[in-house]
Amino acid sequence: MIQTYLTLNNGLKMPQFGLGVFLIPDGKDTINACLNAFKLGYRHIDTAHAYQNERGVGEALKQSGLKRDEVWITTKLWPSEYGEGKTLEAIDKMLERLQTDYIDLLLLHQQVGDYIGAWKDMEKAVKSGKVKSIGLSNFKENLEDLLSHATIKPAAIQVECHPYFPQHELKARMAEFGTVLESWYPIGHGDPQLINEPIFTKLAEKYGKTNVQIILRWHIQEGNSVFPKSTNPTHIQENFDIFDFELSKEDMDEIAKLDCGKRYYTADLEEQKRFLSWKPAD
Ligand SMILES: NC(=O)c1ccc[n+]([C@@H]2O[C@H](COP(=O)([O-])OP(=O)(O)OC[C@H]3O[C@@H](n4cnc5c(N)ncnc54)[C@H](OP(=O)(O)O)[C@@H]3O)[C@@H](O)[C@H]2O)c1
Repeated sequence: MIQTYLTLNNGLKMPQFGLGVFLIPDGKDTINACLNAFKLGYRHIDTAHAYQNERGVGEALKQSGLKRDEVWITTKLWPSEYGEGKTLEAIDKMLERLQTDYIDLLLLHQQVGDYIGAWKDMEKAVKSGKVKSIGLSNFKENLEDLLSHATIKPAAIQVECHPYFPQHELKARMAEFGTVLESWYPIGHGDPQLINEPIFTKLAEKYGKTNVQIILRWHIQEGNSVFPKSTNPTHIQENFDIFDFELSKEDMDEIAKLDCGKRYYTADLEEQKRFLSWKPAD
């Protein structure tokens, strides 16, 4: 199966493309989506404790018959789990839910709470082998503080990213650490306005692809890791079928014109503090 990889700043190779499982209910829905994806050749799943479906991901991995080292699992700690000592306990619980003895990439899901204490524990988990790579998600205002305390620099940063908001400033900021950008809401959470932009329709006709495939191919050529969510078997198949064509420089330049600073999620740091009052169930 054709697939591309990104080399992280610790030398590990991560499949660039995967399946995101945000909002997929745990149990049969998550298991079926992951199994469908594995059968087609997907080798990367993006979950989080907050999604409450790590058990389904672990179960799918077990049922797939794939070897552990054939699949890349990313998951995320919620702020209620941040703090020295506390985070190591949370990691052990994650390993139990995922039925595995290591996590490929562990992210801090949000930039609020005791993220420095959490990062210290994550660094310890890397040393003990329970976690291979560590990174961030949704860090902006507190990014510099985290970086100044980090002995291990983030391997990845996962943020909202799509043609309306390509995150070029953040990528430039993180280049000195070799941090890979991971795109969430890669197709605008399914926003028809983004998907039906005339440039995507034009390029879809040119390459014999769908508009969504053009957008996903744009992420790949931007060098981002991308893991669109789907429970629809046709979409799961369509989304992965993007490795047999290449957008030209002119096409990429045309798509770049869509950059308008539009974000779907705009909560400021003060609003994000509400995350501190929620605790996902074990
Ligand atoms: N770190 C964070 O804070 C954060 C936040 C949001 C998301 N994420 C991660 O990023 C992943 C992707 O984001 P997302 O799920 O919110 O949004 P998305 O992948 O941009 O969009 C998902 C939506 O698009 C639809 N879709 C998928 N493939 C399609 C296709 N080929 N044609 C038409 N519609 C299609 C899906 O419906 P169907 O299921 O019907 O196909 C779903 O409604 C998440 O699953 C999660 O892993 C992380």
